[in-house]
Amino acid sequence: MTLWSGRVGGELAPEVWEFLRADDAELLPYDLQATLLHAQRLHAAGILDDAELARATEGLAAIEEVDADDEDVHSSIERQLGDVGRKIHAGRSRNDQVAAAFRLYVEDACAEADAALVAFVSAILARAEEEADTPMPGYTHLQRAQPVTVGHHLLAWVEMLERDRARFAFARAQAEPSPLGAGALAGSTLELPPPPNAMRNTIDAVADRDFALDYLYAAAALFVHLSRIGEELVLWTTSEFGFARLPEEASTGSSIMPQKLNPDVAELARGKAGTAIGRLTGLLATVKSLPLAYDRDLQEDKPPVFATRRDVAGALGALTILVAGLAFDRDKLATAAADPALRATDAAEALVAEGVPFRDAHEQVAAEVRAGTFEPPELVTDCYLRGRGIDVAAAVAAAKERWS
Ligand code: ARG
Repeated sequence: MTLWSGRVGGELAPEVWEFLRADDAELLPYDLQATLLHAQRLHAAGILDDAELARATEGLAAIEEVDADDEDVHSSIERQLGDVGRKIHAGRSRNDQVAAAFRLYVEDACAEADAALVAFVSAILARAEEEADTPMPGYTHLQRAQPVTVGHHLLAWVEMLERDRARFAFARAQAEPSPLGAGALAGSTLELPPPPNAMRNTIDAVADRDFALDYLYAAAALFVHLSRIGEELVLWTTSEFGFARLPEEASTGSSIMPQKLNPDVAELARGKAGTAIGRLTGLLATVKSLPLAYDRDLQEDKPPVFATRRDVAGALGALTILVAGLAFDRDKLATAAADPALRATDAAEALVAEGVPFRDAHEQVAAEVRAGTFEPPELVTDCYLRGRGIDVAAAVAAAKERWS
Protein backbone atom coordinates (compact mmCIF):
# COMPACT_ATOMS: atom_id res chain seq x y z
CA MET A 1 0.00 0.00 0.00
CA THR A 2 1.54 3.30 -1.06
CA LEU A 3 0.81 6.81 0.21
CA TRP A 4 -0.62 7.59 -3.22
CA SER A 5 -2.73 4.49 -3.91
CA GLY A 6 -5.89 6.64 -3.87
CA ARG A 7 -4.78 8.12 -7.18
CA VAL A 8 -2.89 5.30 -8.86
CA GLY A 9 -5.28 2.39 -8.52
CA GLY A 10 -3.43 -0.57 -9.99
CA GLU A 11 -0.46 -2.44 -8.58
CA LEU A 12 2.95 -1.16 -9.65
CA ALA A 13 5.04 -3.59 -11.67
CA PRO A 14 7.59 -5.13 -9.27
CA GLU A 15 10.47 -3.90 -11.41
CA VAL A 16 9.15 -0.35 -11.20
CA TRP A 17 8.60 -0.65 -7.47
CA GLU A 18 12.11 -1.98 -6.94
CA PHE A 19 13.53 0.86 -9.02
CA LEU A 20 11.65 3.59 -7.17
CA ARG A 21 12.22 2.36 -3.62
CA ALA A 22 14.54 4.52 -1.56
CA ASP A 23 17.38 2.98 0.37
CA ASP A 24 16.95 5.43 3.20
CA ALA A 25 16.46 3.47 6.44
CA GLU A 26 19.44 5.36 7.86
CA LEU A 27 17.21 8.43 7.91
CA LEU A 28 14.77 6.82 10.35
CA PRO A 29 15.78 8.47 13.67
CA TYR A 30 15.87 11.88 12.00
CA ASP A 31 12.50 11.45 10.32
CA LEU A 32 11.02 10.33 13.62
CA GLN A 33 12.36 13.51 15.22
CA ALA A 34 10.98 15.72 12.44
CA THR A 35 7.66 13.90 12.51
CA LEU A 36 7.33 14.43 16.25
CA LEU A 37 7.84 18.14 15.72
CA HIS A 38 5.20 18.07 13.01
CA ALA A 39 2.77 16.24 15.32
CA GLN A 40 3.27 19.00 17.89
CA ARG A 41 2.47 21.61 15.22
CA LEU A 42 -0.72 19.70 14.36
CA HIS A 43 -1.63 19.59 18.02
CA ALA A 44 -1.03 23.33 18.42
CA ALA A 45 -3.38 23.93 15.48
CA GLY A 46 -6.07 21.68 17.02
CA ILE A 47 -5.80 19.02 14.28
CA LEU A 48 -4.56 16.40 16.75
CA ASP A 49 -6.16 16.31 20.20
CA ASP A 50 -4.22 15.56 23.38
CA ALA A 51 -4.84 11.82 23.20
CA GLU A 52 -3.80 11.70 19.55
CA LEU A 53 -0.60 13.61 20.21
CA ALA A 54 0.16 11.19 23.04
CA ARG A 55 -0.48 8.22 20.72
CA ALA A 56 1.68 9.75 18.00
CA THR A 57 4.48 10.44 20.47
CA GLU A 58 4.39 6.89 21.84
CA GLY A 59 4.02 5.40 18.39
CA LEU A 60 7.01 7.29 17.04
CA ALA A 61 9.14 6.23 19.99
CA ALA A 62 8.30 2.59 19.29
CA ILE A 63 9.29 2.56 15.61
CA GLU A 64 12.57 0.74 15.14
CA GLU A 65 12.90 -0.22 11.52
CA VAL A 66 11.78 0.28 7.95
CA ASP A 67 10.14 -2.62 6.16
CA ALA A 68 11.47 -3.83 2.81
CA ASP A 69 8.05 -3.28 1.27
CA ASP A 70 7.68 0.34 2.29
CA GLU A 71 8.38 2.78 -0.51
CA ASP A 72 10.61 4.86 1.72
CA VAL A 73 11.19 5.77 5.35
CA HIS A 74 8.33 8.31 5.30
CA SER A 75 5.73 5.81 4.10
CA SER A 76 7.01 3.36 6.65
CA ILE A 77 6.53 5.74 9.58
CA GLU A 78 3.01 6.68 8.48
CA ARG A 79 2.05 3.01 8.11
CA GLN A 80 3.52 2.00 11.46
CA LEU A 81 1.70 4.81 13.27
CA GLY A 82 -1.60 3.13 12.39
CA ASP A 83 -4.72 5.25 12.99
CA VAL A 84 -2.97 8.40 14.05
CA GLY A 85 -0.67 7.91 11.06
CA ARG A 86 -3.68 8.64 8.87
CA LYS A 87 -3.84 12.13 10.39
CA ILE A 88 -0.14 12.92 10.67
CA HIS A 89 0.52 13.94 7.08
CA ALA A 90 -1.87 16.93 7.23
CA GLY A 91 -0.07 20.12 6.25
CA ARG A 92 3.09 18.44 5.06
CA SER A 93 4.44 16.59 2.07
CA ARG A 94 7.20 14.08 1.74
CA ASN A 95 9.04 16.92 0.03
CA ASP A 96 9.40 19.05 3.16
CA GLN A 97 9.53 15.91 5.30
CA VAL A 98 12.53 14.41 3.54
CA ALA A 99 14.34 17.74 3.47
CA ALA A 100 13.70 18.20 7.20
CA ALA A 101 14.95 14.73 8.10
CA PHE A 102 17.96 14.95 5.80
CA ARG A 103 18.96 18.30 7.28
CA LEU A 104 18.91 16.80 10.78
CA TYR A 105 20.99 13.91 9.45
CA VAL A 106 23.60 16.24 7.96
CA GLU A 107 23.76 18.31 11.16
CA ASP A 108 24.51 15.13 13.06
CA ALA A 109 27.07 13.97 10.52
CA CYS A 110 28.85 17.33 10.86
CA ALA A 111 28.87 17.07 14.65
CA GLU A 112 30.26 13.55 14.37
CA ALA A 113 32.98 14.71 11.96
CA ASP A 114 33.88 17.48 14.40
CA ALA A 115 34.28 15.05 17.30
CA ALA A 116 36.40 12.70 15.16
CA LEU A 117 38.57 15.63 14.05
CA VAL A 118 39.09 16.69 17.65
CA ALA A 119 40.27 13.18 18.55
CA PHE A 120 42.59 12.99 15.53
CA VAL A 121 44.07 16.42 16.13
CA SER A 122 44.68 15.76 19.81
CA ALA A 123 46.64 12.65 18.82
CA ILE A 124 48.66 14.73 16.35
CA LEU A 125 49.25 17.50 18.89
CA ALA A 126 50.47 15.03 21.50
CA ARG A 127 53.04 13.78 18.98
CA ALA A 128 53.95 17.32 17.92
CA GLU A 129 54.64 18.20 21.55
CA GLU A 130 56.90 15.16 22.03
CA GLU A 131 58.71 15.78 18.76
CA ALA A 132 58.75 19.58 18.90
CA ASP A 133 62.55 19.65 18.68
CA THR A 134 63.14 16.45 16.70
CA PRO A 135 65.00 17.57 13.57
CA MET A 136 63.87 16.31 10.20
CA PRO A 137 64.51 17.39 6.64
CA GLY A 138 61.77 19.57 5.20
CA TYR A 139 60.98 18.95 1.54
CA THR A 140 60.01 20.77 -1.61
CA HIS A 141 59.58 18.77 -4.83
CA LEU A 142 60.14 15.80 -2.49
CA GLN A 143 63.81 16.83 -2.46
CA ARG A 144 65.48 17.72 0.82
CA ALA A 145 65.12 21.49 1.24
CA GLN A 146 65.71 22.96 4.71
CA PRO A 147 65.80 21.48 8.19
CA VAL A 148 62.62 21.68 10.23
CA THR A 149 61.35 19.65 13.15
CA VAL A 150 58.79 16.85 13.25
CA GLY A 151 56.66 19.03 15.52
CA HIS A 152 56.62 21.86 13.00
CA HIS A 153 55.64 19.49 10.21
CA LEU A 154 52.85 17.91 12.26
CA LEU A 155 51.49 21.37 13.00
CA ALA A 156 51.05 21.87 9.26
CA TRP A 157 48.65 18.91 9.32
CA VAL A 158 46.76 20.56 12.17
CA GLU A 159 46.31 23.75 10.12
CA MET A 160 44.77 21.76 7.26
CA LEU A 161 42.43 19.96 9.61
CA GLU A 162 41.47 23.19 11.30
CA ARG A 163 40.16 24.55 8.00
CA ASP A 164 38.26 21.28 7.52
CA ARG A 165 36.69 21.76 10.90
CA ALA A 166 35.45 25.20 9.84
CA ARG A 167 34.00 23.72 6.63
CA PHE A 168 32.00 21.12 8.61
CA ALA A 169 30.77 23.88 10.92
CA PHE A 170 29.65 25.86 7.86
CA ALA A 171 27.80 22.85 6.41
CA ARG A 172 26.14 22.31 9.76
CA ALA A 173 24.92 25.90 9.88
CA GLN A 174 23.60 25.54 6.32
CA ALA A 175 21.60 22.47 7.35
CA GLU A 176 20.03 24.11 10.40
CA PRO A 177 17.03 26.02 9.00
CA SER A 178 13.83 24.00 8.85
CA PRO A 179 11.83 23.41 5.64
CA LEU A 180 8.77 22.18 7.58
CA GLY A 181 5.67 24.08 6.57
CA ALA A 182 6.72 24.27 2.91
CA GLY A 183 4.50 21.28 2.15
CA ALA A 184 4.88 20.04 -1.41
CA LEU A 185 6.19 23.46 -2.47
CA ALA A 186 3.55 26.07 -1.66
CA GLY A 187 2.83 25.77 2.05
CA SER A 188 -0.55 24.75 3.40
CA THR A 189 -3.94 26.29 4.04
CA LEU A 190 -3.94 24.62 7.45
CA GLU A 191 -2.64 27.21 9.81
CA LEU A 192 0.14 25.34 11.54
CA PRO A 193 2.65 27.28 13.66
CA PRO A 194 5.95 27.56 11.79
CA PRO A 195 8.84 25.44 13.10
CA PRO A 196 11.67 27.27 14.88
CA ASN A 197 14.14 28.69 12.34
CA ALA A 198 11.75 28.20 9.41
CA MET A 199 13.11 28.72 5.90
CA ARG A 200 11.90 31.88 4.20
CA ASN A 201 10.80 30.51 0.82
CA THR A 202 8.68 27.37 0.45
CA ILE A 203 9.95 26.54 -3.04
CA ASP A 204 13.59 26.82 -2.00
CA ALA A 205 12.82 24.87 1.16
CA VAL A 206 11.97 21.70 -0.78
CA ALA A 207 14.38 22.21 -3.70
CA ASP A 208 17.58 23.11 -1.84
CA ARG A 209 20.29 20.51 -1.29
CA ASP A 210 23.20 22.92 -0.81
CA PHE A 211 23.62 21.73 2.77
CA ALA A 212 24.32 18.20 1.49
CA LEU A 213 26.73 19.54 -1.11
CA ASP A 214 28.47 21.62 1.56
CA TYR A 215 28.85 18.51 3.70
CA LEU A 216 30.22 16.49 0.79
CA TYR A 217 32.61 19.33 -0.05
CA ALA A 218 33.84 19.52 3.55
CA ALA A 219 34.38 15.75 3.46
CA ALA A 220 36.09 15.83 0.05
CA ALA A 221 38.46 18.58 1.23
CA LEU A 222 39.13 16.60 4.42
CA PHE A 223 39.90 13.49 2.38
CA VAL A 224 42.25 15.44 0.12
CA HIS A 225 44.12 16.39 3.30
CA LEU A 226 44.01 12.84 4.65
CA SER A 227 45.42 11.66 1.32
CA ARG A 228 48.39 14.01 1.68
CA ILE A 229 48.89 12.94 5.29
CA GLY A 230 48.45 9.31 4.24
CA GLU A 231 51.01 9.71 1.48
CA GLU A 232 53.55 11.15 3.93
CA LEU A 233 52.94 8.31 6.37
CA VAL A 234 53.51 5.84 3.55
CA LEU A 235 56.79 7.55 2.62
CA TRP A 236 58.06 8.02 6.18
CA THR A 237 57.52 4.35 7.04
CA THR A 238 59.41 2.96 4.03
CA SER A 239 62.93 1.58 4.55
CA GLU A 240 64.04 4.27 2.11
CA PHE A 241 63.01 7.07 4.49
CA GLY A 242 62.91 5.11 7.74
CA PHE A 243 61.60 8.11 9.69
CA ALA A 244 58.95 6.17 11.59
CA ARG A 245 57.61 2.71 12.30
CA LEU A 246 53.94 1.79 12.08
CA PRO A 247 52.20 0.58 15.23
CA GLU A 248 51.09 -3.03 14.93
CA GLU A 249 47.50 -2.18 15.84
CA ALA A 250 47.25 -0.05 12.73
CA SER A 251 49.27 -1.95 10.15
CA THR A 252 48.80 -5.03 8.06
CA GLY A 253 50.95 -7.91 6.90
CA SER A 254 51.32 -9.67 3.59
CA SER A 255 49.64 -12.97 2.77
CA ILE A 256 52.88 -14.19 1.19
CA MET A 257 55.85 -12.06 2.29
CA PRO A 258 56.44 -12.82 5.96
CA GLN A 259 58.52 -9.71 6.66
CA LYS A 260 55.98 -7.11 5.55
CA LEU A 261 54.37 -4.45 7.75
CA ASN A 262 52.12 -2.51 5.41
CA PRO A 263 50.60 0.97 5.73
CA ASP A 264 47.14 -0.07 4.43
CA VAL A 265 45.38 2.39 6.74
CA ALA A 266 47.28 5.34 5.30
CA GLU A 267 46.82 4.03 1.76
CA LEU A 268 43.10 3.47 2.12
CA ALA A 269 42.64 6.96 3.58
CA ARG A 270 44.52 8.23 0.51
CA GLY A 271 42.42 6.06 -1.80
CA LYS A 272 39.11 7.12 -0.31
CA ALA A 273 39.84 10.70 -1.33
CA GLY A 274 39.01 9.69 -4.89
CA THR A 275 35.71 8.22 -3.78
CA ALA A 276 34.85 11.27 -1.67
CA ILE A 277 35.54 13.61 -4.60
CA GLY A 278 33.39 11.39 -6.82
CA ARG A 279 30.46 11.57 -4.41
CA LEU A 280 30.63 15.37 -4.36
CA THR A 281 30.82 15.68 -8.14
CA GLY A 282 28.07 13.06 -8.48
CA LEU A 283 25.58 15.04 -6.40
CA LEU A 284 26.59 18.32 -8.04
CA ALA A 285 25.72 16.70 -11.37
CA THR A 286 22.41 15.39 -10.02
CA VAL A 287 21.31 18.81 -8.83
CA LYS A 288 22.54 20.61 -11.94
CA SER A 289 19.66 21.85 -14.18
CA LEU A 290 16.91 20.44 -11.94
CA PRO A 291 13.82 22.60 -12.25
CA LEU A 292 12.43 23.90 -8.96
CA ALA A 293 10.91 22.69 -6.75
CA TYR A 294 11.19 18.97 -5.86
CA ASP A 295 12.14 16.27 -8.38
CA ARG A 296 12.58 12.59 -7.65
CA ASP A 297 16.17 12.89 -8.86
CA LEU A 298 16.81 14.30 -5.39
CA GLN A 299 16.35 10.87 -3.87
CA GLU A 300 19.91 10.30 -5.11
CA ASP A 301 21.20 12.79 -2.52
CA LYS A 302 21.24 10.39 0.40
CA PRO A 303 23.40 7.35 -0.51
CA PRO A 304 26.56 9.44 -1.14
CA VAL A 305 26.08 11.30 2.14
CA PHE A 306 25.43 8.08 4.10
CA ALA A 307 28.56 6.49 2.63
CA THR A 308 30.68 9.58 3.20
CA ARG A 309 29.67 9.72 6.85
CA ARG A 310 30.90 6.16 7.31
CA ASP A 311 34.19 6.91 5.55
CA VAL A 312 34.88 10.09 7.52
CA ALA A 313 34.37 8.29 10.83
CA GLY A 314 36.30 5.23 9.64
CA ALA A 315 39.31 7.06 8.25
CA LEU A 316 39.68 9.51 11.14
CA GLY A 317 39.25 6.74 13.71
CA ALA A 318 41.87 4.50 12.15
CA LEU A 319 44.35 7.31 11.47
CA THR A 320 44.02 8.50 15.08
CA ILE A 321 45.23 5.10 16.26
CA LEU A 322 47.99 5.02 13.66
CA VAL A 323 49.36 8.46 14.53
CA ALA A 324 49.11 7.87 18.28
CA GLY A 325 51.22 4.73 17.92
CA LEU A 326 53.72 5.93 15.32
CA ALA A 327 57.30 5.42 16.56
CA PHE A 328 59.55 8.14 15.20
CA ASP A 329 63.15 7.04 14.63
CA ARG A 330 64.94 10.06 16.04
CA ASP A 331 68.40 8.80 15.02
CA LYS A 332 67.41 8.33 11.40
CA LEU A 333 65.65 11.68 11.39
CA ALA A 334 68.67 13.42 12.95
CA THR A 335 71.04 11.88 10.42
CA ALA A 336 68.84 12.94 7.52
CA ALA A 337 68.40 16.45 8.93
CA ALA A 338 72.17 16.79 9.43
CA ASP A 339 72.70 16.72 5.65
CA PRO A 340 74.83 19.88 5.27
CA ALA A 341 73.13 20.86 2.01
CA LEU A 342 69.99 21.63 4.00
CA ARG A 343 71.79 24.57 5.60
CA ALA A 344 72.79 26.25 2.34
CA THR A 345 69.95 28.76 2.54
CA ASP A 346 70.88 29.68 6.11
CA ALA A 347 74.53 30.13 4.97
CA ALA A 348 73.43 32.46 2.18
CA GLU A 349 71.30 34.41 4.63
CA ALA A 350 74.26 34.68 7.02
CA LEU A 351 76.19 36.41 4.20
CA VAL A 352 73.23 38.74 3.62
CA ALA A 353 73.35 39.66 7.32
CA GLU A 354 76.98 40.71 6.69
CA GLY A 355 75.86 43.01 3.89
CA VAL A 356 76.28 40.75 0.82
CA PRO A 357 73.45 41.15 -1.75
CA PHE A 358 71.27 38.02 -1.67
CA ARG A 359 71.88 37.02 -5.31
CA ASP A 360 75.66 37.20 -4.79
CA ALA A 361 75.36 35.19 -1.58
CA HIS A 362 73.21 32.59 -3.40
CA GLU A 363 75.79 32.26 -6.20
CA GLN A 364 78.70 32.04 -3.77
CA VAL A 365 77.11 29.25 -1.70
CA ALA A 366 75.92 27.43 -4.86
CA ALA A 367 79.47 27.48 -6.20
CA GLU A 368 80.78 26.03 -2.92
CA VAL A 369 78.13 23.29 -3.00
CA ARG A 370 79.05 22.43 -6.61
CA ALA A 371 82.74 22.36 -5.78
CA GLY A 372 82.14 20.25 -2.68
CA THR A 373 83.75 22.87 -0.43
CA PHE A 374 80.56 24.09 1.27
CA GLU A 375 81.02 24.42 5.03
CA PRO A 376 77.57 24.59 6.56
CA PRO A 377 76.87 26.68 9.65
CA GLU A 378 76.91 24.60 12.80
CA LEU A 379 73.73 22.50 13.24
CA VAL A 380 71.90 23.85 16.24
CA THR A 381 69.40 21.67 18.04
CA ASP A 382 66.33 23.54 16.92
CA CYS A 383 67.40 23.40 13.25
CA TYR A 384 67.41 27.20 13.17
CA LEU A 385 63.64 27.27 13.52
CA ARG A 386 63.80 29.94 16.23
CA GLY A 387 66.24 31.87 14.11
CA ARG A 388 63.57 31.78 11.43
CA GLY A 389 60.91 33.08 13.78
CA ILE A 390 59.28 29.70 14.39
CA ASP A 391 58.50 28.63 17.95
CA VAL A 392 57.11 25.10 17.80
CA ALA A 393 56.43 24.69 21.52
CA ALA A 394 54.43 27.93 21.59
CA ALA A 395 52.57 26.93 18.41
CA VAL A 396 51.64 23.55 19.92
CA ALA A 397 50.36 25.25 23.07
CA ALA A 398 48.28 27.70 21.01
CA ALA A 399 46.83 24.89 18.88
CA LYS A 400 45.91 22.92 22.01
CA GLU A 401 44.08 25.98 23.26
CA ARG A 402 42.11 26.35 20.01
CA TRP A 403 41.18 22.67 19.95
CA SER A 404 40.34 22.34 23.65
N1 ARG B 1 12.11 9.17 -1.07
C1 ARG B 1 11.91 10.48 -1.57
C2 ARG B 1 13.26 11.22 -1.58
O1 ARG B 1 14.16 10.77 -1.02
C3 ARG B 1 10.97 11.21 -0.69
C4 ARG B 1 10.24 12.32 -1.34
C5 ARG B 1 9.28 11.80 -2.33
N2 ARG B 1 8.47 12.85 -2.84
C6 ARG B 1 7.70 12.72 -3.92
N3 ARG B 1 7.04 13.75 -4.29
N4 ARG B 1 7.67 11.60 -4.60
O2 ARG B 1 13.41 12.25 -2.18
